[in-house]
Amino acid sequence: MAKFLGIDVGTSGCKVLLIDEKGTLLKQASAEYPLETPKPLWTQQNPEDWWLGVQRCLQEIGEPRPDAIGLTGQMHGAVFLDAKGEVVRPAILWNDQRTVDECAEMDRKVGPERMMALTCNPPLTGFQAPKVLWLRNHEPENFARTKHILLPKDYIRYRLTGVMATEVSDASGTAAFDVPNRRWSEEVLSANALGQGLFPECFESDVVSSSTVMGVLEEGVPVVGGGGDQAAGAVGTGAVVPGVVSVSLGTSGVVFTALTSPSYDPSGATHTFCHANRAWHAMGVMLSCGGAIRWVRDVLYGGSGFAQMNADAATAEQGSLGLQFLPYLAGERTPHKDPHARGGWVGATLAHSRTHLARSAFEGVTFGLADGFEVLKGLGASTSELRVTGGGAKSEFWLQMLADVFGAPCVTLSVDEGPAFGAAILAGVGAGEWPDTEAATKQVVRVASRVDPSGADYRPSMEAFRALYPALAGWFRR
Ligand code: XUL
Repeated sequence: MAKFLGIDVGTSGCKVLLIDEKGTLLKQASAEYPLETPKPLWTQQNPEDWWLGVQRCLQEIGEPRPDAIGLTGQMHGAVFLDAKGEVVRPAILWNDQRTVDECAEMDRKVGPERMMALTCNPPLTGFQAPKVLWLRNHEPENFARTKHILLPKDYIRYRLTGVMATEVSDASGTAAFDVPNRRWSEEVLSANALGQGLFPECFESDVVSSSTVMGVLEEGVPVVGGGGDQAAGAVGTGAVVPGVVSVSLGTSGVVFTALTSPSYDPSGATHTFCHANRAWHAMGVMLSCGGAIRWVRDVLYGGSGFAQMNADAATAEQGSLGLQFLPYLAGERTPHKDPHARGGWVGATLAHSRTHLARSAFEGVTFGLADGFEVLKGLGASTSELRVTGGGAKSEFWLQMLADVFGAPCVTLSVDEGPAFGAAILAGVGAGEWPDTEAATKQVVRVASRVDPSGADYRPSMEAFRALYPALAGWFRR
C-alpha cells in the first residue's frame, strides 16, 4: 500500500495526515500554537512553534517512511532568515495589515497597471513582498541580517530537508511573482531594489524538489513543494478543472475556480494565482465568513450556542424580515479591497428578534461569497455544482442557502480534511502514483451529499445587501 503524507502549517495550528493510494484517510494529528498580536492589526508567529507542532504531529502519526510528503499552509507570510538559516524576527502573517504604505510604495515604483500585468494582482497588505519592504523601512538592522525569505510552509520544508525552495502557487501570493510566466518577476524585484537571491528557487507544485534529512522521518523521503492552503485545498476538492467551483466556509470564505489561462480581474477584487495543477486559478477571498458567524454566535448565543443559532436561523419566519448584516468585521478583500470596511446590522426594527439577527448573519456572509463569484464569472467561471468544504459545510441549512443564492447544487465531500489532503495528493502525483492532479482527483475525491436549490428567491434581499457597502464606504473611512 502506498502512503502519502500531507503537512498543513495553518494559522491556529498545524495538521498532518496520511492517506493511501485510494485517498483513504489512514491517520491524522494536529497541534496548536499561539498567535502574537503586538499591535492592533499586526499578526506574527514564531516559526519554531510551527516546527515543534509539525514534529509532534509526525511523532503521533508514527510513519517514518511515507512514500512522499506534500506541504501546504497559510499563504503570504514572511519568514526572515540570516546567513546561517536562523530566524531573524517573528514571521509576519497573511492577515497582518501593517504594510499599507509599502503597498503604495510598490505601486508607485512599478506602476499599478504594470503590477497587475506582471503579477495579475495589486500589492495587498497581506502579501509577502510589502512585508520585506516594511522590514527595510522599519527594522533596518533586521533587514541587513536577512539573507533568505521563505513562505511559512517552505520554512517547514527547510527544517525537514535543509533545502530552501518554494512552488508556484504560494510564490504567486508574494506580489513579486510573474504569475503568467511562473517565475520570480525580475522587474518587480529590481524596481524595489530587492535582490533575487533573497527569494528561493521556485518549482511546480507537484515536483519532488527535496528529500528529508534524518529527524522524526527517515532520510531520503521525497518532498514535493505542495501548494498554498487555497490551491492545495482545491486539489482536495477536485477544483483542478474549469467548471468545478469550490467554496470554503472557514474563518475566511473562499470561492475558487481553476483557470486555463492567467486571466485576472483588472480591479484586483479577486486573486489570480498559479494553481498547483500547472495552470492557474482565481479566487475571491472574504476575510470574515465563518469568523463572522462565530462572532455573532459568541455575542448573541455564547460560545457553545452554534446549534441554537443555526436552528433559529433555519426556522426564522419570514426570513430576516428585511434585516441586513454586513460581514466585513476585519475589513474585506473581495470584492471591496477595503481594509477600512466594517460589519454590522442595518434595518433593525422593534419587530426583529435574535432569530432575525442570526438569520441575517448567514445571509450576509452568503451574499458576500456570491459577490466574489460574480467577479469570477467575469473571468469565465461557471459551475454546475459547488463543492463546499470547511466547518460551515456541516450546516445543512447553510448549504441550502448557498444552493439557493448561487442557484446551483451544493455537494460535500467524503474526505473534508482541508489543504493537508490536497498536499498529500500532490505528494502522490510527485511520487508517480497518478500522472497529474486531474487524474488523481478523479480517483480520490468522492461526493458525500448533495443539496439542490429549493426555489427560494434571495434576489431582492441580495440587491438590498449590494446597495449597502457603496452607501457606507465613505463613512467607514471617516
Ligand atoms: C489566501 C489567504 C488565506 C491564508 C490563510 O489568499 O490569505 O487562505 O492563506 O489561510
